Amino acid sequence: MEKTKIAIFASGTGSNAKAIIDHSFKANYEVDLIVSNKENAGVLKYSEEYDIDAIVIDKETFYEDDVLLDFFKDRGVKFIALAGFLWFIPEYLLEGFSNKILNIHPSLLPKYGGKGMYGIKVHQAVFNAKEKESGMTIHLVNNEYDQGEILLQKKVDISSENSPEKIASKVLELEHKYFPEIIEEFIENNSY
Ligand code: GRF
Repeated sequence: MEKTKIAIFASGTGSNAKAIIDHSFKANYEVDLIVSNKENAGVLKYSEEYDIDAIVIDKETFYEDDVLLDFFKDRGVKFIALAGFLWFIPEYLLEGFSNKILNIHPSLLPKYGGKGMYGIKVHQAVFNAKEKESGMTIHLVNNEYDQGEILLQKKVDISSENSPEKIASKVLELEHKYFPEIIEEFIENNSY
């Protein structure tokens, strides 16, 4: 059976992107495209390693109506996974991929989410608040930061972690395990 094409938007080291790509070989989807807004993003090395097309977009193009939408549609991309992508998703993409864009956030939303809460800032805030547990949230993307419908949350005990970095790495383990699985499951249930 033909696999469903997805695009990954990522601008960081790309460890989640790698996990999603690795899982794709035994899943119902294939990664058709990597989209980044940073020319030197670590994720781009995976595009080379796995021979997956990648584009680096600038803000103007991203927020210009329809340019990218047509590009994605022409390629047959059906779902989008945001894996460390910080720009707000414009309305034309939300409409063109209505309920087809998934994001992962490294906290138990609604805690430690929203604009400006990303990367180590999230884990620093969790650490400062002396939380005993943290975790990750996979959710649909809508027009408010980190507020779309939650698809999955997983918790992890962080009571013995003594730095934001250690919390980050525990949460990242969860992300790598669950994001690819949820993408697969979501595609299974939402392809029409
Ligand atoms: C992850 O913590 C993810 O939850 C967040 O951005 C980070 C990306 O990490 N949205 P990586 O680039 O996948 O390693």
